[in-house]
Amino acid sequence: MSTTLSSSRTVSSIVGGHPAADAPGGRETSTNPADTSDVVADVLLGDASTFVAACEAARAAQREWAAVPAPVRGRAIQQLGRLVEDNKEALSRLVTREIGKPYAESLGEVQEIVDTCNFFLGEGRRLYGQTVPSEMPDKQLFTFRTPVGVAAIITAGNFPVAVPAWYLVPALLCGNAAVWKPAEYAPAVSEAFAQLFLHAGFPDGVFNLVLADGPQTFAGLEQTLERRLVDKVGFTGSSAVGAQIGALCGRNLQSPCLELGGKNPLVVMHDADLDLAVEGALFSGFGTSGQRCTSLGTVIVDERVHDEFLARFEAAVKGAAIGDPTQDVLYGPMIHERFLRRFEDDWLGLVRDHHAVHGSSATGRITAASPRDGFVGEDPERGLFVHPTIVSGVRVDDDLANTETFGPLVGVAKFGDWEEAMALANGHGYGLSASIYTTNPKHAFRYREQISAGMVSVNNSTSGAEAHLPFGGNGKSGNGSRQSGIWVLDQFTRWQALNWDYAGRLQKAQMDVADIDADLDFRLED
Ligand code: UN1
Repeated sequence: MSTTLSSSRTVSSIVGGHPAADAPGGRETSTNPADTSDVVADVLLGDASTFVAACEAARAAQREWAAVPAPVRGRAIQQLGRLVEDNKEALSRLVTREIGKPYAESLGEVQEIVDTCNFFLGEGRRLYGQTVPSEMPDKQLFTFRTPVGVAAIITAGNFPVAVPAWYLVPALLCGNAAVWKPAEYAPAVSEAFAQLFLHAGFPDGVFNLVLADGPQTFAGLEQTLERRLVDKVGFTGSSAVGAQIGALCGRNLQSPCLELGGKNPLVVMHDADLDLAVEGALFSGFGTSGQRCTSLGTVIVDERVHDEFLARFEAAVKGAAIGDPTQDVLYGPMIHERFLRRFEDDWLGLVRDHHAVHGSSATGRITAASPRDGFVGEDPERGLFVHPTIVSGVRVDDDLANTETFGPLVGVAKFGDWEEAMALANGHGYGLSASIYTTNPKHAFRYREQISAGMVSVNNSTSGAEAHLPFGGNGKSGNGSRQSGIWVLDQFTRWQALNWDYAGRLQKAQMDVADIDADLDFRLED
């Protein structure tokens, strides 16, 4: 394997601008999933009290930060974007080393932070409110966007820096302070990103990092919500954990921003360009080893082109380069052992007798005894590599049609008519991303109208959202919140209404309003 072994570092939480020296949550190591003998970092884990301390530091710093004029806050975002751009290769290398994403994708991920900063640095000069006419004279109405306060952001490790940036950048721009709890299995890359925040000029306490496990974080969140130290929760992760966080927030009268799983369909109509559809299915099904929330779940193919599509898709998957993520591969290893285990034990276990399996010489882990033709790298057993799997013959009631399978596994189902296609596309209850391949605009717009997803692609992959369109889902994929672009501003600001009466006497709304006389009995002559 050509992975260069670089030195490991010690990383810890950063609260109020100071790195923690202790490890109340224990010590762990983070390893390279493409070569598990490569230790990326020693981690000093925090616990619930670290989370609470971070929220207290954020609370203490927030008012002063909110008083900084928004265009000046935008300058800090601009500086962050510049630092990310100037450290793009180093940060991307670390993303590849710690979570195994192919380097080209890591560069794309880091670029997404730069794009987000570029969008929001200008928002510092907008953050528009409105002037609204009053129903009475000598009175003016206004709306203002005000920061929510302290935002606690809890994120997954499959997009260890881009997705956090979708929350953190607008949250800070809007005048909030932030506590970021990244995935336990991406501590080195999270700490590196945190360093860029600290060097961008945010005052101590405005940005805090907490490295802790899930249960400790949940306990800390429970305490801080009850003490009203946290005003907004952002969470990207599984639907199961999202439901728990949603319940906790609900009990505290808060509506979190939830970005959860997906079972993203890709419909292939009989009039589709099949090669284009294969290309889209390959990237959205197997990119990032199928570990994106926008990864393709099931390809739903018109029976007239089903066999031809499947043959071409199978050939493309069989021929795909898999292996060392520092090289030119379709995908590298599973991000972490926990995803490897779930993939082997749970997701491959959903394959039934009426299904057929395609795409590689075997299923499950790639080993010397279960090799993959053309594996890129020396010894697959040094990393967490798995075979790509296509499962055809998927039916609407199958577990496989209704369960998010986080890994390189794509189902293929056949449909006879539109209703059947839509039942397969919507029946699972998720609603994140969806795609249709067709040359007929009528199919494309009908699909947009009937699909449950928050994001729809026509002749494009289910993944690959641009950083300035609303990102988010419905049903089991989220609670309707949206990230990115202007839409995320409603997550990190609250509307405040101001009325200013300068009439010098009390004017009562609805009661002291002038009327307009009209002759309502008037009728036109025929
Ligand atoms: C995720 O998997 O959590 O659209 C986010 C995409 C990426 C983001 C995915 N830009 O696939």
